[in-house]
Parts: sequence; structure tokens; C-alpha cells
Amino acid sequence: MAGPLEDELGDILEKARDGKSWSQEDLASASGTSLRDVQRMESYDLIPETEAILQLAKVLDLHGPSLVAVARETWSPDPPVKNPDPAFDLHCLNVFMGAYPVKCYLLKCRETNATTVIDTGANPDAIIKKASELRLAPSKILLTHNHPDHVGGLRQLDEAFNCPAYIGANELRPSGSRNLILLEDGDVLELGRLKIKCLFTPGHTQGGVSFLTNQTLFSGDVIFAGSMGRANSSWSDLYHSITREVLSLPEATALHPGHGPATTVREEKRHNPFFCGKV
Ligand SMILES: [Fe+2]
Repeated sequence: MAGPLEDELGDILEKARDGKSWSQEDLASASGTSLRDVQRMESYDLIPETEAILQLAKVLDLHGPSLVAVARETWSPDPPVKNPDPAFDLHCLNVFMGAYPVKCYLLKCRETNATTVIDTGANPDAIIKKASELRLAPSKILLTHNHPDHVGGLRQLDEAFNCPAYIGANELRPSGSRNLILLEDGDVLELGRLKIKCLFTPGHTQGGVSFLTNQTLFSGDVIFAGSMGRANSSWSDLYHSITREVLSLPEATALHPGHGPATTVREEKRHNPFFCGKV
């Protein structure tokens, strides 16, 4: 089961407004929708008729049919195709911050058993338990960005695994690691026989990074199946990170985000309301 999408119609409208620096009043006026209805949509209280969704998409420069499909919950991404002879094993864990699920990953080089954790969640007991069950001893902790739901468990993992943590050089430094290593764009880390490339993907945060190994990308909160992350530092930076660094990868590339289901470059190019028809 892929699980529900991270974002609903209301989230997408809010993020698209953010890209235009529009208020809810601006969107209401541009689309001919009442302000009350815009407010209800953004608080998940209203899914309007298809014609109204298409009009909202038009004024927000979104792909209309894709927005309708997300709003009506008629689309979910085809999952990445499993490589029949993978160089790595991947374990995806839901680590909750309160009731909010965050995806963290254990990535293991098959040949050497070298293992890394990708993001810690806020309460990383599940990661420590899973690593123990699998008899894995992670030798690296990779951090996509410094938000509490992604790094909040760093101190606990540092104590459990006693290994270095890596984060983008432009990101605010998280606490909890006794050996924090700063990454530059294009840096390549070795994990056994695997090579993991660091891609700068700012915009959700100022120094967020994604990690690429083979045709698998761990993208934090940059892009979600059917949506994009929240542009906390810069909407245009985030948009360009996605179009230039993520959706420029081969179409079969698997995307493993920090929230919501896994997807692929192909699926997002064809179904993401923000990017369909633009990349
Ligand atoms: Fe985040």
C-alpha cells in the first residue's frame, strides 16, 4: 500500500498562492471564487466542483487534470520498480512526531552490510529497534535538513550508533551529534560499495540536501508525490531545486520523500500539478 498522499487540495492551493505571493483574497478575486470557499478549501472543508478546481488551477499555473485527480483522490503514484539485483537493501520506517508520520530510511550496501540512517525522526526508537533486529550497525547518519521531525532524534542515534552525521554546509547546525560533517554540493560519500551523492536542493530550508545513490533519491521535504514541499526559505529556490536537480534525473529514478508515498521522476512529471507539462 502506497498510503495517502502528503498533500491535499488545500495544501496545494496554499503552496501555489505562496509562489505568487497571493493572499486568499487575491486567489478568490483571480478565480471568481468566494473568499469563504477558498478558506474552506484550505482548511480541508470543501472540495468544489471540477470546473471550479480547473479554474483555480488555471489562475495558479497548475496542471488542471492533475489537481483534480489529487483533489478527488483518484491518483496515487505507481511505486518505483524494484531492481531485481539491487546493490542495496532499503528499509523505510515511519517514525512519528506526535501523530505526524515522518519517513526515515535504513540503507544497506548488500555486499558489505555497511549501513546508513537517512533522517532520524523526532523519536528514533523505531530506527534503533529495526537496526538491532536486522543486526545492522549504521556507520553514518545522513540528514536532509534541520527540521525537528527529521533531526529531532539525532542525539539518541548518535549515542546508539556512535557515528558521524552529515548535513548540508548551508544548513543550520542541528544539535546532538559529536561528529557533524558538512557537505558541499556534489560531494560523494562511500557506503561500502555504494556511492551516495549529495545534491544541494534548497528552498524548503536554506541548506537542504538530497542524497542520490544509483537511481534512488532521498529528497526530504523537497518534493512529495503530487505536490512540493513548503517553501520556508525560498519558493523560487525550491521550484528550481525540483526542476533542475530532481525532475532532471532519469524517469525511472525512485523518489523517497520525508512524508507520503514513494514515487518516481516519471510519475511526478506526468501527474504533479506543479510540474506536469513544465519539465
Ligand atoms: Fe521539513
